[in-house]
Amino acid sequence: MAKKNTVSRGRIPTHVAIIMDGNGRWAISRGLPRLAGHRAGTENLRRIITACTEFGVKYLTIYAFSTENWGRPREEVEGLMHILEDVIDKELAELNKEGVQLRHIGHLERLDPKLQEKVLEAIELTKNNKRLILNVAFNYGGRDEIVCAIQRILKDGILPEDVNADLVSQYMFTAGVPDPDLIIRTSGELRVSNFLIWQGAYSEWYVTSVYWPDFDKEELQKALDTFSQRDRRYGGLSRTIKD
Ligand code: FPP
Repeated sequence: MAKKNTVSRGRIPTHVAIIMDGNGRWAISRGLPRLAGHRAGTENLRRIITACTEFGVKYLTIYAFSTENWGRPREEVEGLMHILEDVIDKELAELNKEGVQLRHIGHLERLDPKLQEKVLEAIELTKNNKRLILNVAFNYGGRDEIVCAIQRILKDGILPEDVNADLVSQYMFTAGVPDPDLIIRTSGELRVSNFLIWQGAYSEWYVTSVYWPDFDKEELQKALDTFSQRDRRYGGLSRTIKD
């Protein structure tokens, strides 16, 4: 039987965010170096981006490198930098054709200047694409993002009485992007890990024990199916209770 191309029931989340966890354990369980797990995770990411375009997801945010990941062994940090470079070199033309708009959240400054340039060129090349907005969180941390927002709010001389949640959202790296409806975390860890801590206030979470390199289109479909059955109350009451 042909595989389903669309979710069977209900709503598709506008914005899906993913903590792509478990690459290292995936590799170790196969007797491979951790970087082999990151490479397998990258191949999987490519498939999941296409799946998101097919399912009609409009925004996808991926946690590729956190502000804390600098603390990993030098070889792994450099490997992840190379992966980012490789993805741009090898996948950009195809992503552009698929209508994917690349964006970056976090800080580029600490990256090699050539890599920074490459990222900026990719953003420029794809800026008019509309099918899927892909936010790559690279050298990103949620607390750092909030600190930067506060600094910029103060620098702009905003009065305390004018500070509200909408204004703060406009000072986040994700300004203009709707908050994530669904945050997926693979490999079973029950942690937020400094990811979208402002934007995720009312996101639905889906955690699976599947390691990221094995989180395929069918696993994504399960996450979307689960989401479509959630009753989102935003601190209010469900419709059935109110009626
Ligand atoms: C977490 O797994 C994963 C990361 C820190 C990196 C995620 C990166 C990719 C999937 C590659 C795609 C990257 C780019 C730049 C597009 P882990 O290493 O913490 O796994 P573990 O918990 O099993 O050790």
